[in-house]
Amino acid sequence: MLFSRAETVHDFVEYFAFFITSDQQQWHTIYSMARRRTTARGFGLSYDQGNPMITKKQKREAQQRAAAMMRSAGILLLDDEIEKIEVVDFGLSQLETEGVQVFTMVNTDRLAAKVLVLFPNQTEPEHWHPQVGSDPGKQETVRHIWGDLRFYVEGEDNMQEGFLVPGKEEVYMLRNELILMPGDQLTFEPYEKHWFQAGESGAVLYSFSTTVRDGLDGFTDPAIQRTTVVMDEGE
Ligand SMILES: [Fe+2]
Repeated sequence: MLFSRAETVHDFVEYFAFFITSDQQQWHTIYSMARRRTTARGFGLSYDQGNPMITKKQKREAQQRAAAMMRSAGILLLDDEIEKIEVVDFGLSQLETEGVQVFTMVNTDRLAAKVLVLFPNQTEPEHWHPQVGSDPGKQETVRHIWGDLRFYVEGEDNMQEGFLVPGKEEVYMLRNELILMPGDQLTFEPYEKHWFQAGESGAVLYSFSTTVRDGLDGFTDPAIQRTTVVMDEGE
């Protein structure tokens, strides 16, 4: 069954490696790549999305903007920490629409604490945190600090305030909307799917969790590549 879905030699090699590797992390990476490609075909989408990237200029501007929002939220950020803010476009090259800015305060092999910043109407795509080797998967608590924020989780469709990213209806399956107020918290267990979106003001929130392996998160959208490519052009 598995091999019947492999339409190219490339897929076949990936599936073969999937069976022979004994390294759990490598196993998961290989599996994820193969799954995304075959899922993309299932949606009738191309897996190869051209040359996904942001420019250095875009990255710097996003870092400055995120820093200003963090400070508006009353969170201390030193000047030399601004360049440490991660700008994530999920390989989709439409940062303002689908993306997130992340300031990591700590990430050890046991725990992590981050500040997440969403620009106005920016959406973090639907994802979950899977088991990796002996790690049962990330357990994550988010605490809303500032701005307009809504989360989408399993449950009945009650979506009113938020919106689906145009053309992406099939890869945002969760429609149970939770409107968060500053101070509200949510906890997600491993594999529990979620996505979230800022309103007109943007949003700043904390994410406290067990160790983070963002590169191994699962995403409903098969086009997503978690590692953002930053290009020199646009300096
Ligand atoms: Fe998450």
